[in-house]
Amino acid sequence: MSPPRGFFVTGTGTDVGKSVVAAVIARAAAERGERVRVFKPAVSGLDDGGESDHALLRRAAGSPQSDEEIAPYRYGPPVSPHLGAEMEDEEIDPQRLLATAAAAREGSSFFVCEGVGGILVPLAPGYLIRNLAADLALPLVIVAPPGLGTINHTLLTIEAAWTAELDIHAVVLNRWPKRPTTVQRSNRETIAELGGVEVLTLPKIDLEDMDGWPDLGLL
Ligand SMILES: Nc1ncnc2c1ncn2[C@@H]1O[C@H](COP(=O)(O)OP(=O)(O)OP(=O)(O)O)[C@@H](O)[C@H]1O
Ligand SMILES: [Mg+2]
Repeated sequence: MSPPRGFFVTGTGTDVGKSVVAAVIARAAAERGERVRVFKPAVSGLDDGGESDHALLRRAAGSPQSDEEIAPYRYGPPVSPHLGAEMEDEEIDPQRLLATAAAAREGSSFFVCEGVGGILVPLAPGYLIRNLAADLALPLVIVAPPGLGTINHTLLTIEAAWTAELDIHAVVLNRWPKRPTTVQRSNRETIAELGGVEVLTLPKIDLEDMDGWPDLGLL
């Protein structure tokens, strides 16, 4: 079987490292000469400053896409996308998401999509991140923290993916330490066994030093 031509990066929740993992994947693909394009359905928390998710993905991919072409819905407050939309008196339109994603994907040889929060986060009435992942038909990469509590959250995410018959490519335990504890090593083994998935790890990286980023071996 040929390797996937892209991934949908989701996670067990917000702030777990989806953007970082998606960026590392995009960078590895670009390094191999792929024409990488990126997509994120909605970004919020832009008022908080710092490098936005769409800017990090663009930089990692070496993509010329505009903010609008990467993330069609962008909100200032750090809130769930459906609430961000409500505060702007609008609703996220799944058709617009799919059209923007299709345009980004067209002409790319590798496509990296980052979700928002976790897999059951609502984008619009009756339309969750899980529905978007299904519509895009990309294999999932699930990002999770390595410590206590992660078995439950990761298996819940895997079960939610199974419900929608999504293909899970791998779990990535992020911020994996040089010397993992007994709990962390056990978490890795237990998720692999009970979830029936490959469990990879990503250490803490220097986000500015793209040349020093590791290759997760997903391509
Ligand atoms: N492996 C890592 N090395 C260094 N910094 C990291 C790593 N993983 C995450 N971080 C930092 O932790 C924070 C959260 O990571 P990130 O933004 O990737 O999470 P996220 O799941 O994409 O969050 P959101 O739900 O807001 O999209 C960021 O400041 C990011 O730079
Ligand atoms: Mg992110």
